[in-house]
Amino acid sequence: MAAVRNGVQGRLAKKLHIKTFGCQMNVYDSSRMADVLAPLGYELSDHVEEADMVIVNTCHIREKAAEKLYSELGRYRQVKEARTGGGEATVIAVAGCVAQAEGAEIMNRAPFVDIVVGPQAYHQLPELVARAARAKDEKKGGKRKGSGVLAIDFPAESKFDQLPPVRHQGPTAFLSVQEGCDKFCTFCVVPYTRGAEYSRPADEVVAEARELAAAGAREITLLGQNVNAYHGVDAGGKAVGLGELIRRLADVDGISRIRYTTSHPIDMSDELIAAHRDVDALMPFLHLPVQSGSDRILARMNRHHDMSLYCRVVEKLMTARPDMKLSSDFIVGFPGETDADFQATLELAREVEFIQAFSFKYSARLGTPGALMDNQVPEDVKSERLAVLQDVLTGNQAAFNRSCVDRVMPVLLDRKGRKQGQLAGRSPYLQPVHVDAPDSRFGQIVDLRIVAGHENSLAGELPADGTAPSLERVVA
Ligand code: SAH
Ligand code: SF4
Ligand code: F3S
Repeated sequence: MAAVRNGVQGRLAKKLHIKTFGCQMNVYDSSRMADVLAPLGYELSDHVEEADMVIVNTCHIREKAAEKLYSELGRYRQVKEARTGGGEATVIAVAGCVAQAEGAEIMNRAPFVDIVVGPQAYHQLPELVARAARAKDEKKGGKRKGSGVLAIDFPAESKFDQLPPVRHQGPTAFLSVQEGCDKFCTFCVVPYTRGAEYSRPADEVVAEARELAAAGAREITLLGQNVNAYHGVDAGGKAVGLGELIRRLADVDGISRIRYTTSHPIDMSDELIAAHRDVDALMPFLHLPVQSGSDRILARMNRHHDMSLYCRVVEKLMTARPDMKLSSDFIVGFPGETDADFQATLELAREVEFIQAFSFKYSARLGTPGALMDNQVPEDVKSERLAVLQDVLTGNQAAFNRSCVDRVMPVLLDRKGRKQGQLAGRSPYLQPVHVDAPDSRFGQIVDLRIVAGHENSLAGELPADGTAPSLERVVA
């Protein structure tokens, strides 16, 4: 096959395959790892069989998430062996939160892995790839099949300083503004895998938003493990909270929609709630994890708030933006959760009509206080509670989707639909919407009449005469 050349002078294009697990932060990190490796001649490929380098970007949040790594690595090992047999090399790298938590163990359990790189060290990838190549030469003939390069340093500051400009395509984009967590909920590994809370400087964030907008992004989602704990400074040394940051981003030409995730209830400041009232570009939809409806369990979880604070925040949000809708995360079967505690959670799910929700069985994570607590809940009780809760939550979601029928909603068409002649996009409430529409509408925010509301998605229709009713606010 003819050699493919890319922009890097005299260097053959190499193929990079990235498999991403976990949260949106990992999706953002994966695209940044691709940016970091591009100057070395690596181009993204969907096909693992042809990859010169494979990165698996991992998640440690629940036991199942971490297990996925080893089954995925088994596949990559086969690819590596097949390609080595044909005289080609494949570099295998493990990134993300399992890499941070279990770096040495990965090297032992999967000796064919070349690089283990934590979430705060991936800007070092070019150097790590070079070190892996050197180590391979030195180890030729030895027992180890991989190069064994480990990079799990911590400070987030140095990473953001050293990342190249974003290379982005498409109408929607993620933008990391805050990373790490100092809250130490007793069930959660994130403070250990992502490190201490860090906020990027405000001007750096605005500059990245401008680059994204110039590359076609119309909607940006600001990311952080505790995004509303954001406390940046600008070039003038002025403190900038998330509300102020959102106001500045709303002024960036081309950015029509702003979202942020994931928020903690105790960081929903009045300043941020005021941004919901004032900034039209800020979508009327918020993911606000609650975890449990029982004060006793919230205290054991070290969530730093009770139900009354959560409900007050919800009320303030609804006052600021009456068309606001919420989604949430729930954990059932946290150690010590009684039937009465669980009933409190159910009551909350019925009262605050969350229009989407993620619910999980508590998964004991090594090194977190929850794993050592008394009264661990038996697996079958967790399963039972999860099924009952999910029934209520999916009922809420389906009811909201049905209530959207016959309304007009502005939808950002950001991808092809499943069927020929269709495009798909997201409503203000992140509902997927399908519509028969010409490709020329791709990337536009189009007012669609909703004609069907399914459990997980909506169907929309373009206005018959090509004109759309003007809407001052999103559907109320
Ligand atoms: N920073 C966010 C949550 C990040 S983790 C927050 O503070 O809400 C995403 C979700 O995974 C959590 O909201 C929680 O519902 C779930 N989760 C985290 N650790 C878990 C565990 N050990 N077992 C089950 N679910 C867990
Ligand atoms: Fe985990 Fe709690 Fe931090 Fe969220 S706030 S990342 S759940 S420790
Ligand atoms: Fe998973 Fe790490 Fe995100 S543990 S949820 S990938 S911060």
